[in-house]
Amino acid sequence: MNQNNQSIQNQRSLPVEENPCTVVLGVTGSIAAYKSVDLVSRLRRSGVDVQVVMTDNAARLVAPLTFLTISRNPVVDSLWNMPRWEPGHIALAEKSQLLVIAPATANIIGKLAGGIADDALSTFALAHRGPLLIAPAMNPRMWSNPTVQENCRVLRRRGARFLGPDSGSVACAGGEVTGGGRMSEPESITRAVLASLYMMEHSSGKSGGKRHVLVTAGPTYEPLDPVRFLGNRSSGRMGYALAECAVAAGHDVTLISGPAGLPPPLGARVVRVNTAREMEEAVIRQFVVSDALFMAAAVADFRPAESADRKIKKEKGCEEERVSLNLTPTVDILRSLSEIKKTSQRVVGFAAETDNLEKHALAKLRDKKLDWLAVNDVSRQDIGFDSEENEVTLFSSTGDKETIAKASKLAVASRIVAKTLKD
Ligand code: CTP
Repeated sequence: MNQNNQSIQNQRSLPVEENPCTVVLGVTGSIAAYKSVDLVSRLRRSGVDVQVVMTDNAARLVAPLTFLTISRNPVVDSLWNMPRWEPGHIALAEKSQLLVIAPATANIIGKLAGGIADDALSTFALAHRGPLLIAPAMNPRMWSNPTVQENCRVLRRRGARFLGPDSGSVACAGGEVTGGGRMSEPESITRAVLASLYMMEHSSGKSGGKRHVLVTAGPTYEPLDPVRFLGNRSSGRMGYALAECAVAAGHDVTLISGPAGLPPPLGARVVRVNTAREMEEAVIRQFVVSDALFMAAAVADFRPAESADRKIKKEKGCEEERVSLNLTPTVDILRSLSEIKKTSQRVVGFAAETDNLEKHALAKLRDKKLDWLAVNDVSRQDIGFDSEENEVTLFSSTGDKETIAKASKLAVASRIVAKTLKD
């Protein structure tokens, strides 16, 4: 087989039976512990083997039996009930790929920063050698406490990644309060964990270092009047997945998103736009400070020549008449960037095609002076637009070609990020 022409068989998910990925979920004593039951369930459904380690305080809020039932694994909640001869926390440390602590209280954050090991979870954390993800949950006054913030900085410096916290209403002993400190949603934590696992699968010890990565996603809406627009069927999922994987790979990520109803990727800065013109302005502003661009947005090629200030009314008696729309082309953002692109900047375009995939892809690669182009077949109903899965072929300006087999968009995105930012 030609070295430049490989086909990668990606897993659809991370199947527990064939290829168990073990994640340890540390649960500590915040009222948000009930949300972690949903987190376990989501991770399991994605094919992850979840081992729960709980603190005493967490076990007062949610019964260990609940986690045992949902995870289908024994729950470690003490250093002192060893089912086997080996200490449970050391045996777990041998087989776990990733530790996520959700919810993480101010107490566990302080213990991790200070190297204190006085219960099963803090002891396990010291023995753990993989990525550490922390989803804090606490009262907003505690979250903004300088000691807590200093502990977080210490942990970030050592490579820990913080997932949130979100801002919003936080349940406290004295009632509900509003501010930063609410645990991120289980869906977002699940995606961050999966993106980390996928990126770990692709890392071969070779990394291009931390970069400023710009990603665009979603459709653009071109207004016709205050209530109508021209849009397209892009869901934004591919772009959001690219942003999630780039964050998981340790990059500094800005996501410019058209109107997509998806939760923001944890750890990425999100700039929201509506129209192709707004997308163009935002991309140009960010591109000059970026090392790489993934242009996954489905930018409208045309917009109505005029957008009415008031709702266009249906004229009485015009039911039989044809109505015409005057359209005008939008700026091709990628092509305009080729004028200002520096050789050190990496630009990845995305093409949605229905026929002659390779021919159209190679023409776009040349025409827009891209480093890479990922093309997918939108004539297929099972992949691409508005679907959970994708299958793409990557072409490079230096003649590389790689087909990434059908898999979840997160799995495909992880391969694209790993391949295009390799060196
Ligand atoms: N693109 C862009 N600005 C536009 C239109 C598209 O930057 N106004 C980018 C897309 O984000 C994508 C790439 O160009 O990365 C290819 O988009 P695609 O719609 O497949 O191709 P077009 O160049 O629009 O050509 P055509 O629609 O004729 O296939």
